[in-house]
Amino acid sequence: MRIVIANASHIKYAQIISDTITDSAKVRGTGIAKRTPEYIQKRLQNGNAVIALDGETFAGFCYIEVWGHNKFVANSGLIVHPDFRNLGLAKQIKEHIFKLSREKFPEAKIFGITTGLAVMKMNYELGYKPVTFSELTDDPEFWKGCQTCKNFDVLTRTEQKMCLCTGMLYDPAAKAKATDKKEVDGKVFKRLKSIKEHLFLKKKNKDE
Ligand SMILES: CC(C)(COP(=O)(O)OP(=O)(O)OC[C@H]1O[C@@H](n2cnc3c(N)ncnc32)[C@H](O)[C@@H]1OP(=O)(O)O)[C@@H](O)C(=O)NCCC(=O)NCCS
Repeated sequence: MRIVIANASHIKYAQIISDTITDSAKVRGTGIAKRTPEYIQKRLQNGNAVIALDGETFAGFCYIEVWGHNKFVANSGLIVHPDFRNLGLAKQIKEHIFKLSREKFPEAKIFGITTGLAVMKMNYELGYKPVTFSELTDDPEFWKGCQTCKNFDVLTRTEQKMCLCTGMLYDPAAKAKATDKKEVDGKVFKRLKSIKEHLFLKKKNKDE
């Protein structure tokens, strides 16, 4: 398995990356923003993405997106092909993209929003902390990315204050560093997710 910084030679993988994201969103039934092949193609060429390949076979992908005039970066679009899951690959990809983000944007706060327990655990271990959406970028272009998520109406209803996703932030200026190994209690994140689903989706169903 090779995990490398993506370049123009990887454009041929844009379709499978896009399809894998779409299929995973269907299987999970929860919100994942759609990413078209054209959108992925751009990310494969700008030096801000990593791709995992098993020989010539696509295995995983993640990219860095820059927001709010370089004050924030997000590690987005993490996807591992179903054939390569539960092998620790996402963890390796996250470590690569986190390192690349720190090298290229050392002053930037790194953030993400996710409903995925796996991602919350990995972020937490890298030194991210759960935060309210008000601590994340207010760049409207970032939030526009949520429009293709099936829970977008929740975000609109709460005036962008909260949604099913949990916001997580790594602040390079904060004292706690990623080098401190952190133990994660997955039950806490699971409970948070179920409370949010109860609150937001119950209301949504009532409204319908
Ligand atoms: C989420 C995803 C990236 C995980 O990839 P993976 O390579 O199987 O993950 P890893 O094997 O590296 O596991 C990393 C950690 O997450 C945990 N994990 C993996 N899948 C999990 C799941 N479905 N639920 C809870 N925890 C999970 C692992 O146990 C591991 O934790 P540990 O280090 O404490 O053992 C992959 O399932 C995927 O692509 N899913 C669809 C897309 C998606 O949900 N992307 C995130 C959008 S926010």
